[in-house]
Amino acid sequence: MSITVLGIETSCDETGVAVVRDGELLADVTATSMDEYARYGGIIPEIASRAHLQQMVPTINGALEKAGVTLDDIDAVAVTAGPGLIGSLTVGVSAAKALALSLGVPLYGVNHIIGHLAVDELVDGPFPEKFIGLVVSGGHSSILRVNNIANDVSELGGTLDDAAGEAFDKVGRLLGLPYPGGPHIDRLSQVGDRAAIRFPRGLESGKNKEKHPYDFSFSGLKTAVARYIEGCEARGEEISKENIAAGFTEAIVDTLTSKSLKACQAFDCDTLVIGGGFSANSRLRALAAERGEAMGINVRIPPLRYCTDNGAMIAALGYALVKNGAQESELDLSVDTNMDLDRITM
Ligand code: KG4
Ligand code: ZN
Repeated sequence: MSITVLGIETSCDETGVAVVRDGELLADVTATSMDEYARYGGIIPEIASRAHLQQMVPTINGALEKAGVTLDDIDAVAVTAGPGLIGSLTVGVSAAKALALSLGVPLYGVNHIIGHLAVDELVDGPFPEKFIGLVVSGGHSSILRVNNIANDVSELGGTLDDAAGEAFDKVGRLLGLPYPGGPHIDRLSQVGDRAAIRFPRGLESGKNKEKHPYDFSFSGLKTAVARYIEGCEARGEEISKENIAAGFTEAIVDTLTSKSLKACQAFDCDTLVIGGGFSANSRLRALAAERGEAMGINVRIPPLRYCTDNGAMIAALGYALVKNGAQESELDLSVDTNMDLDRITM
């Protein structure tokens, strides 16, 4: 029997709607309010919520049209229930409830972070029996152990302070780059010298190293970059933004790749799946592939357009849930801004 799932994503600033049929992506349409935030230096939740409200119906219609299906073809609706911004999540969940109720189909309120991994199945084929997931975004840097994406996910570790993307955005500000700083630092780092400045890795020695094998801490690194820039300025030296970007990127990417690949070894997994907005980073992609190959670990990272927030990731997870006979969500489900990463549905 054929299964068609509509996925809705509105956790942050992207209104994403996608249609997945039998594991195949038929359409993925995204509207974003990101352009409005450059002048504020960060997302304004109220603006994001209003933009979702305006974009929701046109984006749903756009996805259905592109997929060549009608609402009558939809067998289930999946929607991001958390983690994310409360107003943004509420708009998406309200739309999904209305659709599921009116169509008489099951509703699945799903975890956004796990969706960042699920989308990879649409591109790189079925997941192996178990794998390690690394989700790196503006709000999260987490290592997950996945035995079954539909019913058995556990959190091995995560950031104790800033997420990787967040650290990039903060250092972007220090370097006077436009918001969001991540892509700009990525571009500068490609022409910088990675070995010119060695920034601290965080949790890299002593008790902390033992206590936090799969955790990250990036706020000390951000402070180290600030101190480095201040030092140069005090000495009247010109700073090299390229070398700072390259050294800073190396510190973060070194930690992300070594800890997640170590988790693969520790839990006997031959596959690492990487997702989230930060996985667009070119150095992360290159170093993960290089180290994975040396260790005999298959590193799967979806193409760039599936790394940032989108509806496909939610439709993919929804499809996996339906296929595995997972329990549907109640129609009175609420959103959870801090949704636990061990929790796949609400
Ligand atoms: O997953 P995402 O689209 O939104 C969240 O759920 O947070 O991730 C956005 C984050 C931002 O912090 C942005 O600066 C970062 O991902 N980012 C990058 C790159 N592209 C996006 N960071 C480093 N290098 C990039 N190429
Ligand atoms: Zn995300």
